[in-house]
Amino acid sequence: MKVGICGLGTVGSGTFNLISKNNSEIERRLGSKVHIAQVGCRREHPDCNLSNVDVSYDIFDVVRNPDIDIVIEVIGGLDVARSLVLEAIRNGKHVVTANKALIAEYGQEIMDAAAEKGVQIKFEAAIAGGIPIVKTITEGLAANRLEWIVGIINGTSNYILSKMSDVGCDLSFIDVLKDAQKLGYAEADPTFDVEGVDAAHKLTILASIAFGIPFSFDAVYTEGISQINASDIGYARELGYVIKHLGIARVQDDNVEIRVHPCLVAEDHMLAQVKGVMNAVMVGGDASGSTMYYGAGAGSSPTASAVVSDVLDIMRASEGKTAGNLGFDNGRLVPKKIVSIEKVVGSAYLRLIVSDQPGVMARISTILSQHEISIESLIQKNTRDDYADVVIVTNAVFEESLDLAIKKLSSMEDVRGDVTRIRVAEFF
Ligand code: HSE
Repeated sequence: MKVGICGLGTVGSGTFNLISKNNSEIERRLGSKVHIAQVGCRREHPDCNLSNVDVSYDIFDVVRNPDIDIVIEVIGGLDVARSLVLEAIRNGKHVVTANKALIAEYGQEIMDAAAEKGVQIKFEAAIAGGIPIVKTITEGLAANRLEWIVGIINGTSNYILSKMSDVGCDLSFIDVLKDAQKLGYAEADPTFDVEGVDAAHKLTILASIAFGIPFSFDAVYTEGISQINASDIGYARELGYVIKHLGIARVQDDNVEIRVHPCLVAEDHMLAQVKGVMNAVMVGGDASGSTMYYGAGAGSSPTASAVVSDVLDIMRASEGKTAGNLGFDNGRLVPKKIVSIEKVVGSAYLRLIVSDQPGVMARISTILSQHEISIESLIQKNTRDDYADVVIVTNAVFEESLDLAIKKLSSMEDVRGDVTRIRVAEFF
């Protein structure tokens, strides 16, 4: 089969070079080499030797090239990528993409078009780079009824939180973000990373393949890390936690929770050890129990590893060697209600800045008890003249009770500014 690569940025160049480097090993495994028939890019990449390849500076030439069987879409972005992929499908080509935004937001349209044409869409590289999590869910855990997924799936946020958690680190949020950008991990628009959008894209796809539900990006509760500050990290540490940005999807009877937000994770939990730009995904199945996968979540070569494995699956399937196309279960999706965040139960860390007056703690506990919220841990510190930080970890309650209590706490005369709330991760 002949392959065309659209895009020669970080992932495209990594894919081109990985195929060139490992083609003999690929041939040993598959019986044939991967033949790159054309590369479409705006400009050539200094790391790629394109002397033996047909290069076009119009990426649409690749999807219109009648010699090409498999199109690799690694241009990123949404609208052009969507047109490109839909045109490739119309032209009868299989598609491999690393584009999580495209699949999370236009996945259904793309899968429907592919089903009509009888071609495959593969997207292993869209989630957690070098971790083969799509294959794990759709093949390795295929015998299970999957119950939950919890993951650190945005390397940039994890890098920032890890750096901010280093004792003695006095770098600002922006400086740390710049570091992550230099490492080539951050999205073109880094607000996608720090505001949780990138993780929400990835979790949308994971929830769909794990639970057999339609892509539900618009229903994902999404919160990023931009509000997390050094004092929250310090108090969390005192309480025995680290702060991580998690994607959590969980079956609740006939409904599903899908949410992305910062969480307090017990410092001895395995996810607390996932540092820097690394990713980790835990999946719970009724037969397998709890399982965990760890690796580089982005970067040229780890993401290329996922892209090329998808290409090889398509090549194998075309020769009837393995099913290879177990993946998105188009046509068998069962819509489920996505639980709104108010109906999620969990405990939370609250930080309030209060005036240092007699009776303040009593007034705070009265409000909490009115909403049947009890205090599991409490820290109070006088951080500046006349004001104190009060940090509370609550018991597990419905988010809506906590919302009401926080609203009342914020309007207390003794409370200055907003109440900080970070959810505590509970593992199922
Ligand atoms: N911006 C993403 C991250 C890159 O930081 O994890 C991989 O999707």
